[in-house]
Amino acid sequence: MTLLILVGLLLLIGLTSSLWWRRTSRRRSMPCPAWMSGLVKGPVMDWILGTRITLDRIGLKPGQRVLEIGPGPGRLLIPAAQRVLPGGEVVGLDIQPRMVEQLKARAAKVGVSNLTAILGDAAKPPVPRGSFDAVYLCTVLGEIPDREAALRQCYATLKPGGVLSITEIFPDPHYQSRNTVRRLGEGAGFRFGYYYGNWFSYSMSFAKPTL
Ligand SMILES: C[S@@+](CC[C@H](N)C(=O)[O-])C[C@H]1O[C@@H](n2cnc3c(N)ncnc32)[C@H](O)[C@@H]1O
Repeated sequence: MTLLILVGLLLLIGLTSSLWWRRTSRRRSMPCPAWMSGLVKGPVMDWILGTRITLDRIGLKPGQRVLEIGPGPGRLLIPAAQRVLPGGEVVGLDIQPRMVEQLKARAAKVGVSNLTAILGDAAKPPVPRGSFDAVYLCTVLGEIPDREAALRQCYATLKPGGVLSITEIFPDPHYQSRNTVRRLGEGAGFRFGYYYGNWFSYSMSFAKPTL
């Protein structure tokens, strides 16, 4: 009985904080704080967010050059670096210095050497234009205040025929609906590609037209 009350209380606290964060984020940008990175990279989140399935949906291939916007501590980017071998490389661009430091440290710890972590804003990415085969964002888009600018920049950084993949999950306080993501992607010039999953957890992919 006591255990049930405790679990109920924890669920209530989780739900209330998520609702509060969701509402507050609509008024001002609130990136996932670096102190929560332990949660993001932990096994529970790995299970909820589906690391392997997300990477499968992005469709990474050996030899590709890939950019992740908002990689945090590298839950996806570190295995992505291994998927593009041999010959490929990955770049992670995050707005929070502590996330970039954690990403560098974790990549070094597991001996991943084809990963570069850089500090910057998705709306003004300090990366060469037309140089990536794939760009992806997972539970990040809603944290970016100027989402249109960020997606225009994703378009600019991709090679013609390059792929943009966006993953959203409903429990994330910054969740973006399928309609919003499709509208933003097409508004940035992308051609809609595939949609996987359901409203609760999905990935949507787009392609940059080949001229
Ligand atoms: C919820 S975490 C997601 C981490 C990772 N994508 C994953 O799925 O495990 C969101 C990350 O996006 C980053 N972020 C938020 N706004 C950003 C922006 N404007 N430019 C680049 N990164 C951003 C945050 O610093 C944070 O590391």
